[in-house]
Amino acid sequence: FTAVDVIRAKRDGHALTDAQIDWTIEVYTRGEFADEQMAALAMAILLRGMSRAELSRWTTAMIASGERLDLSSSARPTVDKHSTGGVGDKITLPLAPLVAACGAAVPQLSGRGLGHTGGTLDKLESIPGWRASLPNSTFLAQLAEVGAVICAAGEKLAPADRKLYALRDVTGTVESIPLIASSIMSKKIAEGAGALVLDVKVGSGAFMKDLGQARALATAMVDIGAAAGVRTVAMLTDMATPLGLAVGNAVEVAESVEVLAGGGPADVVGLTLALAREMLDVAGLPDTDPAAALADGRAMDVWRAMIRAQGGDPDAPLPVAAVSETVRAPRDGVVSAVGAYGIGMAAWRLGAGRARKEDAVSAGAGVLLRRRPGDRVRAGEVLCELRADEPDRLGPAAELAAAAFTIGADLPPTGPVVLDRV
Ligand code: URA
Repeated sequence: FTAVDVIRAKRDGHALTDAQIDWTIEVYTRGEFADEQMAALAMAILLRGMSRAELSRWTTAMIASGERLDLSSSARPTVDKHSTGGVGDKITLPLAPLVAACGAAVPQLSGRGLGHTGGTLDKLESIPGWRASLPNSTFLAQLAEVGAVICAAGEKLAPADRKLYALRDVTGTVESIPLIASSIMSKKIAEGAGALVLDVKVGSGAFMKDLGQARALATAMVDIGAAAGVRTVAMLTDMATPLGLAVGNAVEVAESVEVLAGGGPADVVGLTLALAREMLDVAGLPDTDPAAALADGRAMDVWRAMIRAQGGDPDAPLPVAAVSETVRAPRDGVVSAVGAYGIGMAAWRLGAGRARKEDAVSAGAGVLLRRRPGDRVRAGEVLCELRADEPDRLGPAAELAAAAFTIGADLPPTGPVVLDRV
């Protein structure tokens, strides 16, 4: 068959055969299935969907396009977490060392931010000296010695996804549940962990704006994991409101260190512990108590060792942005909502995020929330503080941040951060 046969089959609503899927991914990775053909196929998949069997085969073919790490020699059970991305979502930073302190090994291949959502590597790079790229041998040695590694995925991991994700980004084909699910799971399965916890974000600051869509994505990813022999569970968690009080890079590292020191905002601590319990459960360590490892400093010890192992200085002062400005309440009332998308956009405009993949981010830029939903405010009181390296970024960001706050008369309904589990 040819590329056109495969595109026509999906266009007309037929399921692709195993042979068609394997061939398509193989020749696309080699450059013989043209980008315009793959763009057409991606659009057909977006419009027609994929069966469970097709999705599992597609993901397996994407994994086979590169190398799959073998962590089976690890003395400890291996478990990873993936978040679909949100605003203020620094959970990986305290979570990986916490779960390692409880006896698991956490290989965490992370990404960079794009648009209004932040990236774990961008955050950690605000620590002086810290390196995101590690050769495989160093990665494996650190996993054995420290128990936790957060680093960049190598070029050889699911190269078909690297090409396809970049193509989807410019062809309006990102928002497809099978394409998102196979993209995320191909990278996570290739990384080699025995178990996986997915944090699927729901709300204005997330990819999935409603619970039904998020549940469909979570179910697709859990099915792919199960078919590949990786014990996978998904949590659906709230991303209507930013997580914690800090949104940016260095400011999120600082908040994560507060959590590791036994403090930090309640929502960040609660979600970190909830995800840690799920990870320990799927890793086969259900009787360990992550709250104890946070309280007695064991998680902090692993954090320090993990940062040092990658060249970082855990005691070095974090970069601070050059200029700042406050956003104040226009009237008396109760903060009824703080929109995650608006705050994420403000942080992005301040320089914490990037518009194109090759842009640099500012380490010190970001938003510090001084008020959360449910807080009473008087006119003129500070709602949030904005930080940037260049003064002309403050004005546009202040407008976005001010618009993200809704001030009403009544207390808003308060819901849990964890909405559901798949
Ligand atoms: N993240 C990914 O890695 N892939 C997608 O398709 C969407 C989000």
